[in-house]
Amino acid sequence: MNFELQSMDLVAVADEKCDALLVLVPKAFKAAKDDLSQLVGVALKAGDLEASVGKTVSLYRPLQAAAVRVVLCSVGEGTARQVRTAVLAAIGACKSPGLKKVVLCFAAPATQDAVRAAVVALADATYSYTTTKSKPQPRSLQKALIAAGNASDLRDSFNRAVAIVAGVELAKEWANRPANHATPTLLAGAAKALASHPKISCEVLGPREVAKLSMGAFLAVAQGSDEALRFVVLRYNGAAKTKAPTVIVGKGITFDSGGISIKPAAEMDEMKFDMSGAASVLGTFKALALLKPAINVVGLIPACENLINGRAVKPGDVVTSMSGQTIEILNTDAEGRLVLCDALTYAERFKPLAVIDIATLTGACVVALGAVRSGMFSDNEPLAQALSAAGERAQDTCWRLPLDEDYVEGLKSNFADVANIGGRAGGAITAAKFLQRFTEKFPWAHLDIAGSAWKSGASKGATGRPVGLLVEYLLAQSTSK
Ligand code: BES
Ligand code: MN
Ligand code: ZN
Repeated sequence: MNFELQSMDLVAVADEKCDALLVLVPKAFKAAKDDLSQLVGVALKAGDLEASVGKTVSLYRPLQAAAVRVVLCSVGEGTARQVRTAVLAAIGACKSPGLKKVVLCFAAPATQDAVRAAVVALADATYSYTTTKSKPQPRSLQKALIAAGNASDLRDSFNRAVAIVAGVELAKEWANRPANHATPTLLAGAAKALASHPKISCEVLGPREVAKLSMGAFLAVAQGSDEALRFVVLRYNGAAKTKAPTVIVGKGITFDSGGISIKPAAEMDEMKFDMSGAASVLGTFKALALLKPAINVVGLIPACENLINGRAVKPGDVVTSMSGQTIEILNTDAEGRLVLCDALTYAERFKPLAVIDIATLTGACVVALGAVRSGMFSDNEPLAQALSAAGERAQDTCWRLPLDEDYVEGLKSNFADVANIGGRAGGAITAAKFLQRFTEKFPWAHLDIAGSAWKSGASKGATGRPVGLLVEYLLAQSTSK
């Protein structure tokens, strides 16, 4: 889909030919003399618009505009959240198969946050997954023109939002693909494809190289599957080679059956989404390729299946991680932390500014925070604050959870340095405490996206989160240093 931003008043907007014109009307709207403003004024006066955010009035071929359909939609004060609600409602009101060109118009000067929210919401509302359908119904929308009186103030935010959308859609694509269409090898192929962008390079390691690195924890998870593991090393070089990179690590379990500690059958299909962290790394690199900020970023993806064969790792097995720490695998379903701990140790070699891992790690995090905020853990104050702020800016929010030393109690093992599970209580936190043991050499944060990475039920599908948060965080790095 093609986005464009133009400075236009309501007179110019009314003359623009399109399949649908969506007019976002703020509470404080004052009608000028032109026809479209007058029309909005009448709807407001009649009490049809101001009632609540997302309330719409639909018109078909009104004389006041060149558009086939016009949807007026109230947007309250025009905050990012309100704009999102309004755009979703407006698109809902004119969803027709032939919608090719939409003009989205701010009837009063918009903020940067509002424009970002509008672009992201438009993309979200019109996204369509097609890869494994025999009769694909791709998104009909080809062009979205964002019109605002103050477009020149909004250009940066607009460009950023368009790049985030491209990243989110790449992440959605890979997370949505079923596990037989998104094997570790195919996922690594998607990473390699990103290296066609000038500042990006990609290296993919296989089982032999990973064994040579002594990634015993990652290997233990992968050994239960016939599908070969892959370890992806992506690099985005936007700054001098001497500048330390930020490393992002995405959990890439392309299917999580639980292993010998097998999961119940209900909703097990959703464990194809267990590589959503990896997908968010791919999406973030896509956005970096488009925005070209002056920073260095490394993306690491440990990718494998968590399955069950005659060689599968068993509860009670003790393995040696790349760090040298031994781990008693008490539950083979706590596999995410096993693949991540070796990737975190690998990250040391980059002498990173910071390392952020992104993982659909625990059901406990879903219980704690639902699908709204991602869980965030960090023992580094500035990093935690920067991630929180980035989440708010991107409308891709997270919530910090604690890392008190008291939570490690449950991870004690009689047969190894550490066990891979604590008790049921505080499960998202004990998982984070496990990871923390492998992060002594750099500032670290962990994002548990088990609740936020996909939706269940009728609208089952990946959300592309937290690409928005990550891109906002990384761009803030490029301006602060
Ligand atoms: N991928 C799951 C976490 C998950 C579960 C994400 C449900 C989204 C929805 C992870 O590998 C897992 O199985 N975690 C276990 C850990 C437990 C065995 C300590 C869990 O959360 O049940
Ligand atoms: Mn699991
Ligand atoms: Zn998992």
